Amino acid sequence: MEILGTYNMQGPIVIVGSGISAISLATEIRANNSAVEIVIISDDREAPYDRPQLSKEYLRDGENSSFRLNLERAPDVEWLRGQRAESLNTDAKRITLSNGRSVAYGALVLATGAEAKRLPNLVGSGVPITTLRTLEDASFIREHLRPGKKLVIVGGGVIGLEVAATARAVGADVTLVEALPRVLNRCAPFKLASFIADYHANRGVAFHFDRLSKNAAASSLLLDNGRQLHADLIVVGIGVVANDALAKNAGIACDDGIFVDRYGRTTCPDVYAVGDVTRQLNPVSDRFERIETWSNAQNQALTLGRALAGGPVLPYSDIPWYWSDQYDLQIQVAGIPAGDEEVFRGRFADAQFSIIQLRKGKIVGVASVNRSREFNIFKRLIASDRLLDASILSDESINIREYVKWI
Ligand code: APR
Repeated sequence: MEILGTYNMQGPIVIVGSGISAISLATEIRANNSAVEIVIISDDREAPYDRPQLSKEYLRDGENSSFRLNLERAPDVEWLRGQRAESLNTDAKRITLSNGRSVAYGALVLATGAEAKRLPNLVGSGVPITTLRTLEDASFIREHLRPGKKLVIVGGGVIGLEVAATARAVGADVTLVEALPRVLNRCAPFKLASFIADYHANRGVAFHFDRLSKNAAASSLLLDNGRQLHADLIVVGIGVVANDALAKNAGIACDDGIFVDRYGRTTCPDVYAVGDVTRQLNPVSDRFERIETWSNAQNQALTLGRALAGGPVLPYSDIPWYWSDQYDLQIQVAGIPAGDEEVFRGRFADAQFSIIQLRKGKIVGVASVNRSREFNIFKRLIASDRLLDASILSDESINIREYVKWI
């Protein structure tokens, strides 16, 4: 592990953003350094909240006690709320806000996240339509989601499927339109995707695969095959784009995401980035990617936070992973969705299984349903160089924890 020594920080640490990466960063800096000045600039007037709940608990029940992020662990922070960071002058080390104020920084951390892609051709038809990324979006869906109402979801990714599960629990009619022949194309193995699609179909979700939406009329969505789907509400979940304009306009290297190294450094001195807005080396795929997960946003920020607080400057190289809760399924996925050999453990019929991806005998990915203990073992193995035997991995009579101890 390459340690870069320590930083000798001058002047305030300015953070742009107020999602999980920004709050984790501020918390970690403060936990390790009570003196350094911290400023957070956020265009969101809302108190920071836990985004994963938006498509699940919040959508079903509204706010609960764990919905808002804990700011008490990041005391003595100057909050500039409701202000957009408009431009960045990296020579003067200053950032200009929407109200004209200019803020000086010693270190700047961009934690500006990503925003939902939209379908402009569907807007203005009269059917209530929204993406789901913000608290405002989720509140809008909550207002319109009622038993018997017809919800059409565009996009069979994580967001579309979680909204579908919640909407069925609320008693809405759900139809899902997906451009590809399968769900979760970006981030899950095919076997898991088809299991999940069947699970939804068995709970009343109607799928239209290989279809694009053309436009929306008064109370329906028109598909590219001429089919009209009745809709009281349309939710679009077709992916996200990085909020990297501030960095790009300042000449920092970006490509739908700000390029950062394993220390969170951008191509400009004293400017760092964390979370969904970054494009970084995925240690499993060995490619520069945006790692769109809550755990990345948190842990990349914690590593940088310790360094900026004056601790050791350590590289971040966590194995990417995410979870998704749909109905009674606890889905957990780590690493990459495809290797050169796939091993299946468990039973679809019991909704308890793991799908393991191997490359030259090494685990490069795991996707589990309702098997979190096993998932954690396989996730750890992705980070190791251990070679495993596929026939042993698929044998349910062998205790994986014990097997791993002996190899
Ligand atoms: N019509 C229908 N489907 C489309 C279209 C379209 N025009 N364009 C894209 N899709 C489909 C994709 O094929 C994919 O299956 O939308 C899906 C988008 O899936 P994700 O990339 O997973 O994006 P989304 O579900 O919106 O999630 C966005 O929120 O929870 C986080 O980790 C998640 O970062 C991700 C983000």
